[in-house]
Parts: sequence; C-alpha cells; structure tokens
Amino acid sequence: MRVIFVTANTNKLEEARRYLEPLGFEIEQMMIGGKAPELIEPQFDDLEKIAISKADQAMSMVPESQKSDCAILVEDSGLFIDSLDGFPGTYSSFVFRKIGVDGILRLMSGNKMKACEYRAVSVLVLGERKIIAEGVCRGKIGEKISGTGGFGYDPIFIPDDSDGRSFAQMSREEKSSISHRGKSLKALSEAISSPSM
Ligand code: IMP
Repeated sequence: MRVIFVTANTNKLEEARRYLEPLGFEIEQMMIGGKAPELIEPQFDDLEKIAISKADQAMSMVPESQKSDCAILVEDSGLFIDSLDGFPGTYSSFVFRKIGVDGILRLMSGNKMKACEYRAVSVLVLGERKIIAEGVCRGKIGEKISGTGGFGYDPIFIPDDSDGRSFAQMSREEKSSISHRGKSLKALSEAISSPSM
C-alpha cells in the first residue's frame, strides 16, 4: 500500500519508514512545490482531535484524482509529565522550540516526581475511512541530558522498558520497538490488516 505521510519532521518520517516498510507499506513524504506542507495545529488538549484536524487539512490538499490511489498518514505526539498535569503535552513542539530540554530540566529540578509518558496518535485516511491508533510509552525525566541520538526530548526521556538509558542512547531499532510511535504504527498496521477492514 502506498502511504503519503504528511509531516515536516524527517525523524518521524524515518521512524515510520523503519516501522511500516518491512510490513509492505511504501511511505512517501507529502511535498507540495518541493516543500512539506505546513499544517495548522489547533490548540486542543487532545492529541486525537489535533491529529484528525491535520488529517482533514491534508486530505483537502490531495487532488481528487489521487485520493483513491493512496492512503494519507498524519501523526501528532507529545511528552506528558504527570506532576505538571501533562505539560508540555499537545504544546510539546512549541515548548521544545522555546525552552528545549534544558528548560524542562530546570522546571523539573527539585521535583522528585519524574514520571511521564510520550503519546502518539496516528491517523490513516483510506478512502472514506479514518483509522485512528494511539501508542503510549511510559518513562521518567532524567536528571541530565544523556545521549545524542533521536530528536526532541529523547535525551531526557528514560523509558520504563529500558536498562536506564534514554531514548537518545538507544539505536533506532531499540527505540521504535518500545516507543509511542512504534506502538501507534503497530496498532494502525494491525487495524489495516484485520479482516473487518
Ligand atoms: P507534533 O506532533 O508535530 O506536534 O510534535 C510533537 C513534539 O513532541 C515534537 O516536536 C517533539 O518535541 C516531541 N516528541 C514527540 N515524539 C517524540 C519522540 O519520539 N522523541 C522526542 N520528542 C518527541
């Protein structure tokens, strides 16, 4: 199946390819005039509502003649810190650009409640249908920046399913085997291959 992923984030694209291509999906990045289109991110507290809004915007950019040939994939994700009532949550990308991982470490200094989770909601539009799948990865905020891999908050995110290493210290394969994105893409691929589809 040909899947057009609407994202400007090449890390997300790479993770989706790594996960979905071995399952037989062909992943392309949506490009308009040589650039990934910017989707407006509405200010909701709910990733699913944002992802659905992005999917609707993306669909309106696909020419009618191509709508039946391919599926459209969008994803919205974020880091939710328990003791900060889920902050930065749906504002993760904005907060990362403003204060980065150093800012989050400052906010969390002296706070012993480090539990948090990454969440991702993927939406695949297949003709008239929308398949929605969520993935959650529990973890904790580290005491310091560790590792250089991954992107975004990965150097301070230590997944519970780890030996103490942050996502930024893991190989890409290790990260996607336990990550929120890997889980949401797995659920999506299972939903597509289910007999009721
Ligand atoms: P959005 O889905 O484009 O709104 O961006 C989500 C933001 O959450 C990203 O820009 C990152 O800051 C953060 N984020 C989501 N997933 C990950 C991840 O796998 N690693 C690191 N940061 C992430």
